[in-house]
Amino acid sequence: MKKLAKRITGKEWGMIILTILFTCFSVYLELEVPTYISQITELLGTSGTQLGELWSPAAKMIGLSLLAFFSSVMVGFFAARVAASYTTHLRRDVFHQVLDFSQTEIKRFSIPSLLTRTTNDITQVQMLFTMGLQVVTRGPIMAIWAIGKILGKSEYWLWAVVVAVIVNVLMTTVLMTLAFPKQSVIQKLTDKLNSITRESLTGIRVVRAYNAEDYQDEKFEAANDEVTRLNLFVNRLMAIMNPIMMAISSGLSLAIYWIGAYIINDASLAERLPLFSDMVVFMSYAMQVVMGFLLMGALFIVLPRTLVSAGRINQVLDLHSSIENPSQAQAADPSVQGQVEFRDATFRYSKNSEAVVEHVTFKAEAGQTVAFIGSTGSGKST
Ligand SMILES: Nc1ncnc2c1ncn2[C@@H]1O[C@H](COP(=O)(O)OP(=O)(O)OP(=O)(O)O)[C@@H](O)[C@H]1O
Ligand SMILES: [Mg+2]
Repeated sequence: MKKLAKRITGKEWGMIILTILFTCFSVYLELEVPTYISQITELLGTSGTQLGELWSPAAKMIGLSLLAFFSSVMVGFFAARVAASYTTHLRRDVFHQVLDFSQTEIKRFSIPSLLTRTTNDITQVQMLFTMGLQVVTRGPIMAIWAIGKILGKSEYWLWAVVVAVIVNVLMTTVLMTLAFPKQSVIQKLTDKLNSITRESLTGIRVVRAYNAEDYQDEKFEAANDEVTRLNLFVNRLMAIMNPIMMAISSGLSLAIYWIGAYIINDASLAERLPLFSDMVVFMSYAMQVVMGFLLMGALFIVLPRTLVSAGRINQVLDLHSSIENPSQAQAADPSVQGQVEFRDATFRYSKNSEAVVEHVTFKAEAGQTVAFIGSTGSGKST
């Protein structure tokens, strides 16, 4: 991840900072809204309140919500932009790197794997990037800010929030530990699927000649089923997240109202209204705390797969081609056209193998036909 982060350009950092600023701004606005809710509740609870008095807090509240909405849109916009721009040049770098590879390096990764790495793996990184930018900053800021706002209110309510957060963290950890091992295998299986598809398509004539369609079909089916099974597993885990999220936040609302009912019941008549409005405000903040943690949880579920993808991309970027061009290549003579010359060329397929051709020297003039003669395996095609 760190290595990939180094590839973020200055312009992208600028956009990332903009995203974070807009996130802070929208969180700030969202956290201000409950203040007006409390004002309105208190006004509504006081007898003799005129409709006109409600206008000012209501208008401010609507204004804040609209601004918050606008900031969230900007956050989404910048996050998507940065992620797309980043992955565009990451993909370009990987592609350039692969073009420089010799047969040996390509064999080491295998062509299907290189295909997956330049497409699917990079898409994973892009997804995490977009999501992360919106969530990584928003979650903690929202949680911490909202906690700050509710500290010092009733400690019973606070306990309800603490319990909700703990349950939430526990659930996320369980889901993550369940998903992690599977997530890392998915990319490998995608390679396998690509490899079988490629093998069947490039070798389609052989497959038909040997009437091996069923055999290839079965092979494909097995790989396809495996990927589907794992994806289903992971996605089901993600799907469980949603109801759990709902259950936690509904449970928390229930707990707050329950505790509130007792607190208000015990209070004197004059204290009841401020306590009630406190409760409404507390509720909004508590929901925001829980939301903050849930957002972070969602990120942690996607994280493992992306870490695997990031590692796979780095492997490609870190591997240097075994072909080294001499630093002082002889400049081509512009007067010579269409002439090919080999001077004492030697070739081996990998560093440790024997040279397939050695000391080859010949010249092919434009328009000339040059032929190699030799026994099988002597190195003509090479
Ligand atoms: N991609 C490769 N990786 C490693 N070794 C290779 C590769 N391709 C060929 N070789 C080896 O290089 C040697 C020369 O092979 P090459 O295919 O060039 O011979 P050839 O003269 O074209 O043979 P034929 O007449 O059968 O076409 C052989 O020993 C072969 O095993
Ligand atoms: Mg040959």
